[in-house]
Amino acid sequence: MGFRKDFLWGGAVAANQCEGGYREGGRGLANVDLVPHGPDRYPIATGNLRIDAEDGHYFPSHEGIDFYHHYKEDIALFGEMGFKTYRFSIAWTRIFPNGDEEQPNEAGLSFYEDVVKECRKNGIEPLVTLNHFDCPMHLVLEFGGWRDRRMIDYFMRMTEVVIKRFKGLVKYYLTFNEVNMILHMPFIAAGLCFEEGENRTQAMINCVHHELVASALTTKLAHEVDPDIMVGCMLAAGACYPETCKPEDYFKALCDDREGFMFIDVQSRGYYPPYALKWIEKRGAEVPFAEDDKDVLKKYTVDFISFSYYNTRVSSAEPSKGQASQGNIFGSVVNPYLESSEWGWQIDPLGLRSTMNVLYDRYEKPLFIVENGLGARDVIEEDGSIQDDYRINYLRSHIQAMKDAVDEDGVDLLGYTTWGCIDCISNGTGEMEKRYGFIYVDRDNEGKGTFKRMKKKSFDWYKKVIASNGEDLA
Ligand code: BG6
Repeated sequence: MGFRKDFLWGGAVAANQCEGGYREGGRGLANVDLVPHGPDRYPIATGNLRIDAEDGHYFPSHEGIDFYHHYKEDIALFGEMGFKTYRFSIAWTRIFPNGDEEQPNEAGLSFYEDVVKECRKNGIEPLVTLNHFDCPMHLVLEFGGWRDRRMIDYFMRMTEVVIKRFKGLVKYYLTFNEVNMILHMPFIAAGLCFEEGENRTQAMINCVHHELVASALTTKLAHEVDPDIMVGCMLAAGACYPETCKPEDYFKALCDDREGFMFIDVQSRGYYPPYALKWIEKRGAEVPFAEDDKDVLKKYTVDFISFSYYNTRVSSAEPSKGQASQGNIFGSVVNPYLESSEWGWQIDPLGLRSTMNVLYDRYEKPLFIVENGLGARDVIEEDGSIQDDYRINYLRSHIQAMKDAVDEDGVDLLGYTTWGCIDCISNGTGEMEKRYGFIYVDRDNEGKGTFKRMKKKSFDWYKKVIASNGEDLA
């Protein structure tokens, strides 16, 4: 048994967390360029504070890890590790700097064409996220981001150009990264800044509904351009455990899980399930359906389910139990049976197997794990090596769990891309020193460093894992 022969091993990053070159090649300003490192990051990311590009803040996305100038070297290193796939995202503002131009920006398109060709040269299948948290600032200021229906047309203008240009070169697309993130980081997820006194649920539902329609139209378009293209939705996943076997705790866990599922339910099944409509109604909001929306959502469902997995959560019906543990922005009651990362994300390999089973039972479509990994501080030893055994241990246990889900439970899994395969900026905190990579990048939290790349111990380990198609995890 084991993993399928064409299993897509690899790594993942996002444009705003690695590219840099934020005003090069005609690139326009995006929401993600205005999310700084430091205490203002959270209120800005959550749509509660807006700032301008000047004013003394440090914006890590502006230089990222300078992938814009290092991509050949980086992709060669991925090739050396034996990557079968590399997940990256398209910065919308490289293709349409303001979002509403009639013609695309050729410099941006040819940058991505080079990246795609460089991947192919190294035997790597590109896996392209069409939207990983970025939105042109011009559209944010003009329309309030995704709350406005016209965003669908502007987004489709970008995806059409990209999908047609890369016909025959790119087979796998994801539409919106972590589509449920709208409920947790609305400015990052949808360029949404709240207005005083508005119904926040309504604003978020407007945004996500427009994204869901755009996602369905993207699937339609991709299949028309090339029936071999496969389009996936993307969920920030991680099962919720009830804190106790008290029925109220179980029910709370079920409700918390559904808050995650409700939007990919639409992308995968083609309609808003009754519980989701009730969830929206109870908050005094409604889905802004236009005439053909239900039909479009129904017809153009995704081909596979992709997700990020970092941790599970614990739900309690008791509001005073608080949210003492953090994991990828989700608060949770602390799970006493699990250890935590330095950032308090609780480590749960079996939770990955459970999550895979829940998703496969629910949708009966192939799964793709497109993010998983350990954010940790790395130390360069005197001899220049980086002994990241903690990362190897984390990945080993998670790969074993996903193997069990495939071998023992019969889950159909297309591939696995670890998050931040090369160190990059943290989305949650804006730190550089929260590192996930097999490749170290000389850059610190204040933006100092040479951008020099160095292999960590995990580099050779992952290479061996890939070469043995997941059989050798030692
Ligand atoms: C996911 C995002 O939420 O988690 C990534 O898709 C992000 O963009 C990753 O980087 C890890 O989170 P963090 O906060 O450690 O960067």
